[in-house]
Amino acid sequence: MNRKQLIKKYIEFFKSKNHKEIPNAPLIPENDPTVLFTTAGMHPIVPYLLGQPHAQGKRLVNIQKCIRTNDIEEVGDKTHHTFFEMLGNWSLGDYWKKESIGYSFEFLTKILKIPRSKISITCFKGDKDAKKDTESAEIWKSLRIKNIKFLGKKDNWWGPAGKTGPCGPDTEIFVNKFEIWNNVFMQYNKDPKGRYNPSKQKNIDTGMGVERTVAILNNLNDDYLTETFKPIIAQIEKLSKKPYEKNKQDTIAMRIIADHVKASIFILADEIEPSNLEQGYVLRRLIRRAVRYLKKLDIKESITKIAEPVFDIYNDYQELKNKKQILEKLEKEEQKFKLTLEKGLNKFKKFTKNKKILSGKQTFLLYQSYGFPFEMTLDLAKENKIKISKSEFEKELKKHQKLSKTATQGRFKSGLADDSNKTTKLHTVTHLLITALRKVLKDKKIMQKGSNITPERTRLDFNFPRKLTEKEVKETENLVNVQIKKCCEVKRLEMSPSEAKKTGAVGVFDKKYGNKVSVYCIGNFSKEICAGPHVSNTKELGKFKIIKETSSSSGVRRIKAILK
Ligand code: ALA
Repeated sequence: MNRKQLIKKYIEFFKSKNHKEIPNAPLIPENDPTVLFTTAGMHPIVPYLLGQPHAQGKRLVNIQKCIRTNDIEEVGDKTHHTFFEMLGNWSLGDYWKKESIGYSFEFLTKILKIPRSKISITCFKGDKDAKKDTESAEIWKSLRIKNIKFLGKKDNWWGPAGKTGPCGPDTEIFVNKFEIWNNVFMQYNKDPKGRYNPSKQKNIDTGMGVERTVAILNNLNDDYLTETFKPIIAQIEKLSKKPYEKNKQDTIAMRIIADHVKASIFILADEIEPSNLEQGYVLRRLIRRAVRYLKKLDIKESITKIAEPVFDIYNDYQELKNKKQILEKLEKEEQKFKLTLEKGLNKFKKFTKNKKILSGKQTFLLYQSYGFPFEMTLDLAKENKIKISKSEFEKELKKHQKLSKTATQGRFKSGLADDSNKTTKLHTVTHLLITALRKVLKDKKIMQKGSNITPERTRLDFNFPRKLTEKEVKETENLVNVQIKKCCEVKRLEMSPSEAKKTGAVGVFDKKYGNKVSVYCIGNFSKEICAGPHVSNTKELGKFKIIKETSSSSGVRRIKAILK
């Protein structure tokens, strides 16, 4: 069974169990500034796990593209990937352990035809926060699964994705000793003080790794030998004239290149550009690290040659149709890096001549003047048995005030908003802002072109051809404040996308919505398709103030605003 068949079978199976398919969300989470990337299928669903009703109901299924950057340094073995696909099914306060385990068992044994004897299970062994999960173990036993182990929090607990939020014990499913599926019983909410409080709604969140499962189904013990990687590896073998799996170091280099190139393509496809900030910095690190490993394998050709097969493997992704542009951007970053790579390597050699340590200042100089991402210097240091300290490097970064917010806020790891109340308010006021702009500028075609909300401020990009006058800015601000003072109720309605369009709700109708959407109405003022969450009345918002109005790109303006 291949990747596409597996995805189809999974979605069909859960649809036959009354689940509704939801779209594969972008890699950059909408309206969650505290994480850089979608790290699991549950990420776009968090508001619903917390109790907000989902327009598609209580049973959901999807295939989700994900990026995990916390184990970039582990990439190189057979099973770690930066980009991967996760199949998932959810129960939002609907079915519980018996059905969830039953569905997984049925799918594995009946649809994938995996013999029961190859399946082994782990369950949560219990601790001070939650009791031993004998309930799950009993369910597995009733399905005549024999190999069941109990493990602690480190292994059998999932979430929260960040510091706080939904989480719970899980049961992990292994086939031939490889973990392929994780069923999480989200019945706790971790609070900022680290306490696990029973949640109002008990949810199921599962995740099946596509690459790993395809490997198992084809009797392969290395994900890189499956169709999700093999054509990329084959291309690397061809260009390097070295066979995969002959020499250990070369094999690791090949995996790193294949992994990083694939992840870079998907990030570029979601319209992120290499930079020194946030997602752009992760992208830069991936591309530059791949380029350096190409050099190690003596590959002279451009990284874009390695990228070619990615577009064929994933020809079911609409966003990859933009191949030419994606490859151009990839090549541009490669060129930029190649210009300074030699010089930087010489500098590194000079710094470490007769020494076994590289200082934070020196590491920072390599980063700042030669574009060496920290991990790359770390790799170089490891190879040459030289000590470097991440914290010293970060201290230098901070000093120079050029630090990517990512690093300062520890956001390389995923994390959900701890200040969710503040971002929720700013999210609601952003709806008021866009409507106010349409009214003040008398332009109904004004649409949101992007938004980014932190607990401190909202940033809205919208199409408009010129700078706003001071008067227009003031009028917009006033109009928003009038709506806040009116104490408008915020209501959520559910309807089909076509009904939403008919009633005049604002939305990007060429976007892939499901067959039901949530429409948020604020008094009679604003009506917009949106996933939420929002406050329930504008009186909670305080005073609105626009702090900046600038150009974002050609034909797009940017407003930053706060609530006082
Ligand atoms: N959210 C769970 C995971 O990522 C299913 O493993």
